[in-house]
Amino acid sequence: MPRLPFITFEGSEGCGKSTQVGKLAARLERSGVPFLVTREPGGTAIGETIRELLQFAPHGVGMTAETELLLFEASRSQLVREIIKPSLERGLCVISDRFFDSTTVYQGAARQLDEQIVGQLNVFAVGDCVPDITFVLDIDLATAQSRMQRGARKPDRMEQEPTEFYEQVREAYRQLAKRESNRIVLIDGTQNPDTIDNEIWKTISSRFPALSNKSAI
Ligand code: TMP
Repeated sequence: MPRLPFITFEGSEGCGKSTQVGKLAARLERSGVPFLVTREPGGTAIGETIRELLQFAPHGVGMTAETELLLFEASRSQLVREIIKPSLERGLCVISDRFFDSTTVYQGAARQLDEQIVGQLNVFAVGDCVPDITFVLDIDLATAQSRMQRGARKPDRMEQEPTEFYEQVREAYRQLAKRESNRIVLIDGTQNPDTIDNEIWKTISSRFPALSNKSAI
């Protein structure tokens, strides 16, 4: 029997991916599909400690781009081996809020680290554990910023970059979606969340009949 899919969500801050992860998880729950939701950076005890360092630790302020890259990869390699691969092997559908495309875009394109090295480190961290499908939620910067201003919490270290950084992030996601159109589905993230949820489910149902057959949604 084919295993259930490994699904990832990507996009810049404020794009609504976490909302969509929740909506997809709710659909799977209602239909009795076994699944696991995780996130990057994080998802394991080691990864969550790395997340704190990357986003909130006061001494993270002087972090170099190279250190940042390696910390994201360290979190990922732990997550893949401790959680994602074993869960897929146990027959679960795995949903991750971010995965290696974030590194390609944020550390490769926006931080402008060597693309080849970033690609090699991604491969080193994940091995053969590549998502079956990735949804990139694409939104313009103004919408993203107004959504983030509505959020009550203090911006983390990664959310304090200049506007150009997030423009590069958006453009890099769009380019990546074109380059890897078999795996990556670009979604207009400015639409109503329920409309996006329906669009995502339609795509998943048609690509993974094994998943949708279990579902009476
Ligand atoms: P978020 O998951 O709450 O959006 O926060 C994660 C932050 O970390 C976000 O700013 C994107 C950034 N990030 C990278 O720069 N590279 C990566 O590889 C990952 C997974 C996240």
